[in-house]
Amino acid sequence: MTDKRIKHSIPDVRWPTEAEAAASLWFSPTHVGRLPVEQRTWVPAMVPWRATEDGFVTPEVLDWYARFAEGRPGVLVVEATGIRDIASGPLLRIGDDRFIPGLRQLVETVRERSDGHTRLFIQILDFLTVRRRPEPATFFARYLGISARLRERLARALADERWLIAAEPDVRARLAGAERPLVETVLDERELESLDYGYRERVWDTHWPWIRDLPRVLPALFAEAARRARDAGFDGVELHYAHAYTMASFLSRLNDRADDYGGSRENRVRLPREALAAVRQRVGHDYVVGIRYLGDDVVAGGSRIDDATFYGVEFAAAGADYLSVSKGGRFEDARQPKIGEAVYPYTGVSGYECMPTVLGDERGPFGRNVPLAAAIRHAVREAGHRTPIVTSGGIHSFEQAEGILRRGEADFVAAARQTLADPDWFRKIRLGLGHDVRRCQFTNYCEGLDQRHKQVTCKLWDREVAPGEDGIRMAADGKRRLGPPAWRPPAAS
Ligand SMILES: Cc1cc2nc3c(=O)[nH]c(=O)nc-3n(C[C@H](O)[C@H](O)[C@H](O)COP(=O)(O)O)c2cc1C
Ligand code: SF4
Repeated sequence: MTDKRIKHSIPDVRWPTEAEAAASLWFSPTHVGRLPVEQRTWVPAMVPWRATEDGFVTPEVLDWYARFAEGRPGVLVVEATGIRDIASGPLLRIGDDRFIPGLRQLVETVRERSDGHTRLFIQILDFLTVRRRPEPATFFARYLGISARLRERLARALADERWLIAAEPDVRARLAGAERPLVETVLDERELESLDYGYRERVWDTHWPWIRDLPRVLPALFAEAARRARDAGFDGVELHYAHAYTMASFLSRLNDRADDYGGSRENRVRLPREALAAVRQRVGHDYVVGIRYLGDDVVAGGSRIDDATFYGVEFAAAGADYLSVSKGGRFEDARQPKIGEAVYPYTGVSGYECMPTVLGDERGPFGRNVPLAAAIRHAVREAGHRTPIVTSGGIHSFEQAEGILRRGEADFVAAARQTLADPDWFRKIRLGLGHDVRRCQFTNYCEGLDQRHKQVTCKLWDREVAPGEDGIRMAADGKRRLGPPAWRPPAAS
């Protein structure tokens, strides 16, 4: 994106008749691996912040997926779910067998509410530590390490050698009271980042043993999580290798680890491949294992489409059952958070590219990422693999999705926000009722809620309560309904 000046309107579209929809590619059956799928419609992962504080499925989580299931997409992917058994706030977790019963209930709910029409996958992820932006006083008093190098810089800046041996509390107090230029002179780049944005780990911080050891621990963690997904009854598992998280960072050109897992493309893809192999070995060859990853990191120095096509061919050759292509969503260009908040990877240009809005450059948000999927598909086909490619980003209409499939740019067309705006939209279109679709405005109210880790809803329906409507589940703030009003087809179908 170059600038952010043009406000695009939601295009007028022609919706198909029931017969046209029945004859379309988007609503035609296909396979993922050996798994038959009824349609090429797809709902990609969306975190709604509805799990318990310790990562369990709640009635609100069940409702969220039940509502998507009623629209009967071909594939529904459950939100990013943590593979480690560590506190992660209200993010779903799959890092221990105690999470399986709740996840099994989720599988049963989707099966029942989609009447068996929808295939259900779960996205599994690992992420590194990101702390909230600290109060400067707390940072200087507690978090900043007082090293010999820091003392040297302070002594030099103040032309006073006493700082080389001064008591640590005095060094801390001096820096806490220092003017900004002195702070910038004394702190190194990472220390300044920790002060201004909050402490954040990188996969190339190999001076930390737990980061150095990631290649040793991650394949088994992914494999066990995938085994739990299979035990819970999911139709497949999606390895989250996209956006700001651990595996995307291994794949990124920014990864300059000096061991076998950084530097060259071949090294950067090694751990993601090893994790895929471990998962495959654990769940068997007849179970769907897909990958979501970036067609372009967007941030300076990050991976580009030539890296992504290379990775696509590698993953296909290693037996991935599908490749779901996303874009951006990185920490490196994220906006500075407020004190007490954590940096959020969808606030910079790379965030815009991940979830583009109507306020943008001349290209607009609609289908913006399709060329990346098309290039990856082309490379994967050239290499002799039939691996399906999923595209997403600004998909809002039947015509658009059908065109993408007809031109061979992707094999599945996914929609996140349009499906949040109207979970029934696939079913409405399939029944020739496209004119009833509640159309996403692509202004990212939902993403704003996600950013604050508030229960995600859509502005088009979260205040709409019909007179007499009861039993509505409301958000914790008491102001918003958590799911859209029910919709039933006019006649039984
Ligand atoms: C509220 C919200 C939560 C999201 N959570 C995830 C996630 O857990 N994993 C993921 O890969 N993408 C996530 N995304 C990104 C979407 O899957 C999708 O790639 C993006 O919204 C662009 O597609 P769209 O234009 O159809 O919305 C999320 C998007 C939204 C709006
Ligand atoms: S809140 Fe806005 S961007 Fe999000 S789904 Fe609803 S209409 Fe679309």
